[in-house]
Amino acid sequence: MQRAPNTSQLESFAPYRRRLLAWAKKAGRALPWRRTRDPYAVLVSEIMLQQTTVATVQPRYEAWLRRFPTIETLARAPENDVLHAWQGLGYYNRARNLHRCAQVVITELGGKIPPDLASLRQLPGLGRYTAAAVAVFAFGQSLPLVEANTARVLARLQDLQEPIDAGAGHEKLWDLSARLVPRREARAFQNAMMDLGALVCTARNPKCEVCPVRSFCRATTPEELPRKRRRAPQVRSTERHELVFHGDAVVLARSTLRWRGLWMLPRSTARAEILHREIFPFTHHQITLEVVRGKKRAIKADELIFARKDLAQIPMPSPHRRALDALLA
Ligand code: ADE
Repeated sequence: MQRAPNTSQLESFAPYRRRLLAWAKKAGRALPWRRTRDPYAVLVSEIMLQQTTVATVQPRYEAWLRRFPTIETLARAPENDVLHAWQGLGYYNRARNLHRCAQVVITELGGKIPPDLASLRQLPGLGRYTAAAVAVFAFGQSLPLVEANTARVLARLQDLQEPIDAGAGHEKLWDLSARLVPRREARAFQNAMMDLGALVCTARNPKCEVCPVRSFCRATTPEELPRKRRRAPQVRSTERHELVFHGDAVVLARSTLRWRGLWMLPRSTARAEILHREIFPFTHHQITLEVVRGKKRAIKADELIFARKDLAQIPMPSPHRRALDALLA
């Protein structure tokens, strides 16, 4: 990287590593999951961080570990409790996979999360990044890591013009990460790479003037990197649901699709006055939730009635929770 780079010589990365690590010692973040080597706690943090920001995850990570302090407590918990604890974090498959993962570890692996990459990859919900992250942060292995922050740093370092969310470009990130990561201190190094991405090598307005590894960076227009393939356009749709009372209790339907296992307001096709409307994103959809007043009717097979006082204990998707809170207020 530094002038006439010879990427086949690992030694040439030593000055980069030294500067990055020295910077991180002073400027790095004190994140709660960095205080532990417990593979279960590391796994929880990494699954939460897959699609959620560090700021949101911090309190939720700590709350999760109070509720399910060990992998055994999680494995034995009913799915309803697991989904309730995940409420608001979205992408509930993560919670279902984490739950299954805990059950697999308890029933098939003697209660221990395995340290090797191949075994980690077999666990539900662990992709290439998450398996490697557990191996690095819990077990101290020297492995490459590519997630949003490190991807940005790695793309800019090599001035990568190819899209990073497609085959060849994506592989170049993993390749460079593999060459950069030191044999020892991999944990500190990868944390430092993430800190650099989060604090200095930011997506917008990167702070190149204070970057500790600026002299190694080939990017001439860093704010244009990393490049991505064109995104699928946002699809707009409207979903109508109803508020039905049985006395003072509310009818909720168990979702079998997007929010499988969570309780939501029942679907409706009625043309009635709209009591509540809100827009929420879901992957590449922009969904308008409309809630109408439903007529008193018989309860369907996938429905239950819930007393108002019990609603807080029921796992509900955030848009439906907000709608219900607003309508019952
Ligand atoms: N994003 C994904 N994993 C992370 C971690 N361990 N620390 C900070 N940000 C992350």
